[in-house]
Amino acid sequence: MEGLAYAKEKLISKGYLDLDLDPTLDYFEEIEKLKKEKNAIILAHYYQEAEIQDIADYIGDSLGLSQKAAETDADIIVFAGVHFMAETAKMLSPEKKVLLPDLKAGCSLADSCPPELFRKFKEKYPDHVVVSYINCTAELKTLTDICCTSTNAVHIIESIPEDKEIIFAPDVNLGRYLVKKTGRDMVLWNGACMVHEIFSNEKITKLMVRHPDAKFIAHPECEAHILEKADYIGSTSGLLRYTKENPAEKFIVATEVGIIHQMQKTSPDKTFIPAPPNSEDNCACNECPHMKRNTLEKLYTCMKYELPEIILPEWVIEQGVASIDRMLEVSARAGL
Ligand code: 13P
Ligand code: SF4
Repeated sequence: MEGLAYAKEKLISKGYLDLDLDPTLDYFEEIEKLKKEKNAIILAHYYQEAEIQDIADYIGDSLGLSQKAAETDADIIVFAGVHFMAETAKMLSPEKKVLLPDLKAGCSLADSCPPELFRKFKEKYPDHVVVSYINCTAELKTLTDICCTSTNAVHIIESIPEDKEIIFAPDVNLGRYLVKKTGRDMVLWNGACMVHEIFSNEKITKLMVRHPDAKFIAHPECEAHILEKADYIGSTSGLLRYTKENPAEKFIVATEVGIIHQMQKTSPDKTFIPAPPNSEDNCACNECPHMKRNTLEKLYTCMKYELPEIILPEWVIEQGVASIDRMLEVSARAGL
């Protein structure tokens, strides 16, 4: 390949923009054309930018996105989310091409549990069942008996026989919440999500005093002292459903702010207040910097060049997919 063409392909394969991008392009129109031409489906998580959510074929939480990735008959899955989500889609549909607009869209929670350290940790508890939150690397899934998401976590824990002991990885906050909720005493890996650890107890308390009519709702990745204050705790889809069904007109929302786009669309007359982060300098810490690496422009170039693509070693798919299949089976039995 010519030097310049090679350099360009290298950049695009890492999720950088097409160098010749035409600023007058209507990305919505172009992406719609590419979807049809290539029989591609765009799956987007609720934490994506509003414009990406608006062009997606399916928007959902981690469970819904995995279910969709397993059942789609599209040839190409374009995953508008983070790396572990695209890997999960690849493991469930290895014959399909799975694209991620920016390969660097990682996850602090997945990174907090390196597989080589976890392997040693697991050796200390040889008889334990390993339950891993789906927010972990594909390689960690090869060391996992069954995955869970925040939507099905209670069902997954309850599906494990009472006499079996459990290791739960990697999210310590979700783990503590599940210990409390299910009464099962689990060995917890000490990982966390950088977005859900940042909420300020003090600022939330002040907001609750200022808006006594508001419901305070939180994702179970938040720390225990935040969850203790919540009127409702749930996954992104659970939080969205709660804001739709609950008669309250105001909600203080402790999760990544991207979900507020769908809340506002579903209930246009209600008010949503993002829970403030613990910072003096008004940072956007309640935005996930990994999720926000994807942009409409990157979505377009990734569909045009079919890069960057998720490639996984065969052994990782073979040894890791059983933990996701088991999770989907328990979820289906529970009607989730
Ligand atoms: P859910 O959408 O499954 O609740 O997960 C939240 C999350 O942190 C995804 O990265
Ligand atoms: Fe990972 Fe947290 Fe971002 Fe979700 S919000 S992708 S758990 S860093």
